[in-house]
Amino acid sequence: MIITGGAGFIGSHVVRLFVNKYPDDRIVNLDKLTYAGNLENLTDIDRKSNYVFEKADITDAGRIRDVFEKYCPDGVIHLAAESHVDRSISNPMEFIMTNVVGTVNLLNAARALWNGNFEGKRFYHVSTDEVYGSLGREGFFAETSPYDPRSPYSASKASSDHLVRAYHHTYGLPVTLSNCSNNYGPNHFPEKLIPLSINNIKNSKPIPIYGKGENVRDWLYVLDHARAIDTVFHNGRNGETYNIGGNNEWTNIDLIRLLCRIMDSKLGRPEGTSAQLITFVKDRAGHDMRYAIDSSKLQRELGWKPSLQFEEGLEKTADWYLANEKWLQGVISGDYEKYYQKQYSSR
Ligand code: NAD
Ligand code: TYD
Repeated sequence: MIITGGAGFIGSHVVRLFVNKYPDDRIVNLDKLTYAGNLENLTDIDRKSNYVFEKADITDAGRIRDVFEKYCPDGVIHLAAESHVDRSISNPMEFIMTNVVGTVNLLNAARALWNGNFEGKRFYHVSTDEVYGSLGREGFFAETSPYDPRSPYSASKASSDHLVRAYHHTYGLPVTLSNCSNNYGPNHFPEKLIPLSINNIKNSKPIPIYGKGENVRDWLYVLDHARAIDTVFHNGRNGETYNIGGNNEWTNIDLIRLLCRIMDSKLGRPEGTSAQLITFVKDRAGHDMRYAIDSSKLQRELGWKPSLQFEEGLEKTADWYLANEKWLQGVISGDYEKYYQKQYSSR
């Protein structure tokens, strides 16, 4: 099978889970290695005999067709994307190219390879709850909620979701989709809220909170998302969408206060030290107020549920970042990107 975006945050956890759990399946990690893709995330499994890495850009239709013809996958799990809302506000076109055009290239490659013979085949598209827009104080996103994307990132993901469903209805392509809430955990790129705050607390730098910090997100531990993807890929019904969430809503400011307490205790600082770093900054343009997911369909039909309490998951995450200083410095300095440019420039 091919897993796209397998060098990224969530993708690396999915690749590891599949490589270890399914030794008889050959797992091809297809990734362009953008700033967010880091093969250091996979050093523990990259020598396994059922793991292969292919550096490829999903916007390159010819290259994607070649990779599909080379490996003849029965399954595709598509995670490759431009994923950071703030970057989508400053550069929307890159999001359209990767998230929309790239997804269509993958759909075309799968359709051409399978050529109407869909027995045992599956194209699984991994998406976000942000396609549903923004909630007020009440209510949850269900699979039936209308799409109402409000950032270039969520609009590009919504567009890709529609195209995946269109290929199912028009050509019969066997697909599943899932829309998940905010993930956190090891290997999260340190420009996102939780890893950025951990790093800044460690270095006694300001923690930037957009607006008043009242925006609400539903946080899920990344390994629970990877387990949900495994469940949907193997047991989900053809053509169906499953919402995945942690049932774990936090305002940004409450989350950061909790993280500050955890970090004070881990760093041996008096309680209240890290909270002094909280700095309210200009709000994100069009900042969605609240995301909250109803994942009862996945729980009821496929028996998945989140395994970790948030406090426990946040502690594990803080421990991971404190123990993996080298990984963090490599990412922040961009050293790994320079290495890839050299390593792959001749290919
Ligand atoms: P990420 O940014 O950490 O990783 C994305 C990966 O895709 C990187 O390895 C990158 O190199 C690769 N990539 C980017 N452009 C590519 C291209 N043109 N060709 C090939 N590879 C390319 O993202 P993530 O947080 O791991 O998210 C993975 C998926 O899950 C995305 O589709 C995202 O929309 C979705 N998702 C993320 C979250 C979250 O909280 N992070 C929540 C719900 C859904
Ligand atoms: P983020 O991690 O970028 O995820 P998303 O925008 O996809 O939900 O941000 C999570 C929340 O934290 C979001 O409401 C924006 C806010 N935020 C800050 O307050 N400060 C920051 O420095 C960042 C990166 C995000």
